[in-house]
Amino acid sequence: SETLKIGVAGLGTVGVGTLQLIEKHYELIAQRCGRPVLVTAVSARDRRKDRGLDLSAVRWFEDATAMAADPDIDVVIELIGGADGPAKEIVEAALSNGKHVITANKAMIAHHGTELAQRAEQAGVALACEAAVCGGIPIIKTLREGLAGNAINGIYGILNGTSNFILSSMRDTGREFGEVLAEAQKLGYAEADPGFDIDGVDAAHKLAILTALAYNCEVDFDGVHVEGIRDVTSLDIAFADELGYRIKLLGIARLTNGGVEQRVHPCMVRKDAPIANVEGVYNAVVADGDFVGSLLTEGEGAGAGPTASAVVADLIDIARGVRLPTFAVPASVLDRRPSRAMAEH
Ligand code: HSE
Repeated sequence: SETLKIGVAGLGTVGVGTLQLIEKHYELIAQRCGRPVLVTAVSARDRRKDRGLDLSAVRWFEDATAMAADPDIDVVIELIGGADGPAKEIVEAALSNGKHVITANKAMIAHHGTELAQRAEQAGVALACEAAVCGGIPIIKTLREGLAGNAINGIYGILNGTSNFILSSMRDTGREFGEVLAEAQKLGYAEADPGFDIDGVDAAHKLAILTALAYNCEVDFDGVHVEGIRDVTSLDIAFADELGYRIKLLGIARLTNGGVEQRVHPCMVRKDAPIANVEGVYNAVVADGDFVGSLLTEGEGAGAGPTASAVVADLIDIARGVRLPTFAVPASVLDRRPSRAMAEH
């Protein structure tokens, strides 16, 4: 049946990984979707850069917004990043042109998710962002599908791979923060602005998205209490170790009497807790549903392969005609903002 035509905006680490995956698994994807899925257009700043890809058969757009308006594209994959600016313009253009959107852009969804989800609903298209939260871990699908019958008591996890990599390496090697950060940047895990990783902002972006899905409320990034790991020293880590704990940067959302509380900060986690042993660039999320109980998923939270895996999972949903909005945003619950109340901790 009819080929699903994709335009990819942004050819950085994740963009290249996504194109490689789609090319390698072209047949597998077609089998699983019952139709071919083809990248027919791309847009990136530098056309001449060697990305190790054969792009001779795809149309090249200098202007990604023009690509988002092209009638011959069904799905726009936005992999540019940034809460505002070009990424948001492209996504808005795509939605208003009736195209499905897949994005890995957690900052944009954290800040504008509710508004964009409404636009998508109005246009009758999908806004999918599995890749925005914890790279390869299918936590959005888990909340949206697997746990859909549960009330969520709480959800918490290691939501930033760079911070976890830094904390793990500091403990393993006794090295200090700055040195290990440089290594994470070299490995391609860190954000363009590594402050987002180490100051807890990236984890807060992801937490705000998870909260909205878990509690059917608006995405409220400003309601997250945020502290990062900049001030954690290798001595803190060694002392914690002696006391039987690991230091982990956790994002936590849970129901309190005052509403939903959202917070990101370094935590002492008992060494025998499974999440304490999630090391390196791995992320992990624990979701506690009232009927299912507690569920832990662990996997690589950043990097080309895992993030591409999440992008293509969304793509396959769309190709199969799964018409699920990213967020549950029926008008009746739009006024349910998560509470900013902080519990004692
Ligand atoms: N910089 C992010 C991280 C990438 O380290 O987890 C994935 O969002």
